[in-house]
Amino acid sequence: MAPTAPPTAAARPGSLRSQLTRRKPVEMLLADAGAGDGGHLRRTLGMGHLTMISIGATLGTGIFVVLGEAVPVAGPAVVLSFVVAGVIALLSALSYAELAGMIPAAGSSYSYSYATLGELAAWVCGWCLVLEYGVSVAAVAVGWGQYVNELLDATVGVTIPDAWSQPPGAGGHVNLPALVVVVLATLVLLRGVTESARVNTAMVVVKILALLLFCAVAFTAFRAGNLTPLFPLGLAGMSSGAATLFFSYIGFDAASTAGEEARNPQRDLPRAIMLSLGIVTVLYCLVALAAVGAMPWRRFEGTEAALARIVDQAGGGSVVVGLLSLGAVVAIASVVLTVLYGQIRILFAMSRDGLVPPLFSRVDRRTGVPRANTLVVGLFVSALAAVVPLGELANATSIGTLFAFALVNVAVVILRRTRPELPRAFRVPLAPLVPVLGAALCCYAMLSLGASTWIVFLGWMALGLCLYAGYGRRHSRLGRPAAAPVPPQ
Ligand code: ALA
Repeated sequence: MAPTAPPTAAARPGSLRSQLTRRKPVEMLLADAGAGDGGHLRRTLGMGHLTMISIGATLGTGIFVVLGEAVPVAGPAVVLSFVVAGVIALLSALSYAELAGMIPAAGSSYSYSYATLGELAAWVCGWCLVLEYGVSVAAVAVGWGQYVNELLDATVGVTIPDAWSQPPGAGGHVNLPALVVVVLATLVLLRGVTESARVNTAMVVVKILALLLFCAVAFTAFRAGNLTPLFPLGLAGMSSGAATLFFSYIGFDAASTAGEEARNPQRDLPRAIMLSLGIVTVLYCLVALAAVGAMPWRRFEGTEAALARIVDQAGGGSVVVGLLSLGAVVAIASVVLTVLYGQIRILFAMSRDGLVPPLFSRVDRRTGVPRANTLVVGLFVSALAAVVPLGELANATSIGTLFAFALVNVAVVILRRTRPELPRAFRVPLAPLVPVLGAALCCYAMLSLGASTWIVFLGWMALGLCLYAGYGRRHSRLGRPAAAPVPPQ
């Protein structure tokens, strides 16, 4: 692999600057994504599967857990917090919809950044996506154990002892449930993308039904008086609730990582992203309204498993509480499955570009799955989930996600200027205003995160840059003599 770089428009050929700013032409991205063979991944997913992948990755801990933490901050206005967080997510979702339909590559925002901002920015974006996907999935898996325990307690009256459900340092030896859920998801993913999409669809149906069941029971205890005053903690409380609840919308972009496995990506990806966000927003607002209507907002303070408690108080009985716990267990398992899937596809794209080892882009002929990639990611995430207490690192996932979202908004603006002629199945309305606003909101949200989160994030970035300097920059496919020349943009 030759480390020489092709010339770019502005930098001296072979210079460090030309390496860091080399861009992957959209045509090359499209050729890689393969009109037909998808770079060896198989095009089997329809619009329904894609929508379910995004809902699968989105609907999880946020609604089952974080809602309970946001109510004491926002009061009954938590319903509006969900709307505001949904609007912030929508601005970036529009940009994702435009780019996913235009460049249906497995790398998602990593690939869009490569086409617009150059290799270093693409690497940084890809490295942020490892936070959004790989690390967050480990954090989500860690939380899964608590729900398994609740379900076991509600159904058979036993719980897994701390020694086997907590990592070292948190009073245990190993977090066995976290390990198990990641291993199970890895096994499903190894079977093939169609099988994985089917399993995910079934799980998404279960979690939606569980939330509808919650609404049906909670609305029977609805008291309009619980909603007044609507803003007991002012507008500041409402917007602080929105910042907390933004987490519950993370994942709508997961369908974009299936760009090379979609049957009709140009048409279906934008629709799937927008539809999943719409469904999730309506569901969130309904659940929040039912929750604060059924239980006075002050009682949420310090209440764990708030949804289960509401159902219990509304006279739902242990069967409904058990079904709700089952819904949470399934919901979080489906987040693990789809987010792990996304991580594997992003590494697949980065490997094809030479930025991570070729092992990650080898596809198994029989199943059409990047097998070694799936095994390595599954092993890494299960080890992380089993033995590392992930609290602080989990906070850093939001900052990484927001950074990737900001880059996608910027990419829309750049491509509208540099490649206005490319066909776009979906166009962000009022561009560049809407994507600029989207990017600005992401930056604002990043700045409002705490200093310790920034320290973790900057440490993560420093590690990523060392890896790029040591491997990616030297092995980049664009640096090989045979790579297509990069046109000036
Ligand atoms: N949105 C995902 C969840 O709420 C991350 O679990």
